[in-house]
Amino acid sequence: MEIIETVQEMRQRSEALRLDGQTIAFVPTMGFLHEGHLELMRAGKKHAGKLIISVFVNPTQFGPGEDLDQYPRDTEGDLEKAHNVGVDIVFMPSAAEMYPEESETRVRVENLPRHLCGLSRPGHFDGVATVVAKLFNITKPHVAVFGQKDYQQLAVISRMVMDLNMDIQILGVPTVREPDGLAMSSRNSYLRPEERRSALSLRKSIDLAGALFRGGEKKAKAIKDEIQSLVLSHPFTEIDYIALCDPVTLDDVEVLGHENLLALAVRVGKTRLIDNCLLREGRD
Ligand code: PAF
Repeated sequence: MEIIETVQEMRQRSEALRLDGQTIAFVPTMGFLHEGHLELMRAGKKHAGKLIISVFVNPTQFGPGEDLDQYPRDTEGDLEKAHNVGVDIVFMPSAAEMYPEESETRVRVENLPRHLCGLSRPGHFDGVATVVAKLFNITKPHVAVFGQKDYQQLAVISRMVMDLNMDIQILGVPTVREPDGLAMSSRNSYLRPEERRSALSLRKSIDLAGALFRGGEKKAKAIKDEIQSLVLSHPFTEIDYIALCDPVTLDDVEVLGHENLLALAVRVGKTRLIDNCLLREGRD
């Protein structure tokens, strides 16, 4: 497994792979790798001959007062996990390498970030779109893999790729969960043991919404009210949002249709957790 730290070397390496007729899958990460990331990498390996990942905690997607400084890091563990899963190249640039002082360009998707997490994290998706566009230009992938757990991020990146005519296939991989149902996230490591049980309220909300929907409930408010009561019955919880929306535009719906996205963000203690599911007619 190769480790590359400079933009120039990474670009040259990717170009050489392409000239050699190789296909490239790319998985961007902020490190502190867990099983969810490894699943993205396995999916990437199935779709291309070479797998590149990036490990870069991107400062431009963190707002003031967010957890940039505390964001968990484990370079040695990350490299071992990447190696074991069969990654070919790890791109690990510094912040100065990615954002030279003179850089002044940002990529902004206009509407999708005006929903869900974008409401409480202004500028977050500009930071994500910008760094992902840069990473795409540097690693030159044919296919890039993202988790469905970050549904809005996947939607924003898919939109950016379509709107900017980037010749990259975007693959969404289902959320990987802990045995108790908690969606895997690097931020789970912040949870204190007594908060961990409350964190399960997100998964329970998904199950509850599914049961209500299958039972014929179509009023978004009724489902959201039930979820709110469920979440708040757990200690340490504070709701950021509970949304039922169109899975493509992310616009809120009042009456559920054939396919709907349930997305929620809940603070458990100091840790902000997100989860989502699709509620589709004709499915369990
Ligand atoms: O999902 C993440 O870890 C980040 O938002 C990403 C896509 C690596 C961009 O920094």
